[in-house]
Amino acid sequence: MAAMSVATKSSKFGVPISAGIDAFMDYFQRYPWLTGLHVHVGSQGCALDLLVEGVKRAMRLRREIHDRLGRSQIRMIDIGGGLPWNYRPQDQFPTPMEYVASLKKEVSDLFDENIQVVTELGRAIHAGCGWAASRVEYVKSADSMNSEPMAVIHLGADFMLRPVYKSELWHHEISLFDEHGMPKQGVKKPTTIVGPLCFAGDVLARGRPLPAVKTGDWLVLHDIGAYTLSMWSRHCSRAIPPVVGHQGAGELTCLLAGETLEDISAFWSRGVN
Ligand SMILES: Cc1ncc(COP(=O)(O)O)c(C=O)c1O
Repeated sequence: MAAMSVATKSSKFGVPISAGIDAFMDYFQRYPWLTGLHVHVGSQGCALDLLVEGVKRAMRLRREIHDRLGRSQIRMIDIGGGLPWNYRPQDQFPTPMEYVASLKKEVSDLFDENIQVVTELGRAIHAGCGWAASRVEYVKSADSMNSEPMAVIHLGADFMLRPVYKSELWHHEISLFDEHGMPKQGVKKPTTIVGPLCFAGDVLARGRPLPAVKTGDWLVLHDIGAYTLSMWSRHCSRAIPPVVGHQGAGELTCLLAGETLEDISAFWSRGVN
């Protein structure tokens, strides 16, 4: 968690609330235009109680600042940090509605008509809006390595940076379909999924129970609407894949065209005549 959190005392952002009121007063005394407070608790891994407690403390700080100033100055509260997303089937993180209900119960003054509330619900809104599909390029059999079968796909650390970097913290469900797009059945075996990039750590998942994978199958990564395409890297100069939208079983719409070789060449040639 330490590698991900920006809500620690030693964070590069903000002022820790434990610094005490004096650490905040100077700013609000000096700058009358400073009319907002932004609290950041975190998102994934944060229980509802913790998020609500953060907002409660921000509201308490607001009251203390106003008491010292002798006037009301803070009109906007940004209840930052996000909300966790249910990446695993057994996850049961709070929904935005549950968050609101808890805030109404525990921090009712947040809903005062003189306060503008700003939210930053990142992945809770859009992580579940997308899935990524890749053909299986080839499979190295378990025999050749004396370990798990290894399926090589076309999505690697350039798309899935977080699960490759911190596999113990980042999980995406994976489904397997045959070459015609039908769900694959059969005895499940622990399988390693790797990307195409030129370093050994380009491993998306290990020990995933999947039916026998073969070249030409489709592998689908779930809940990829956050922390994926936005973190794309240029390693090995691969083209950013297209993004296609659909509503139910309806029409497909191109939301983002995939990159062409010309796009990549233009990227590396910027400023060069
Ligand atoms: C300032 C800020 N607020 C909220 C979020 C939302 O967090 P998440 O999408 O991880 O839930 C982030 C994530 O980067 C952030 O930087």
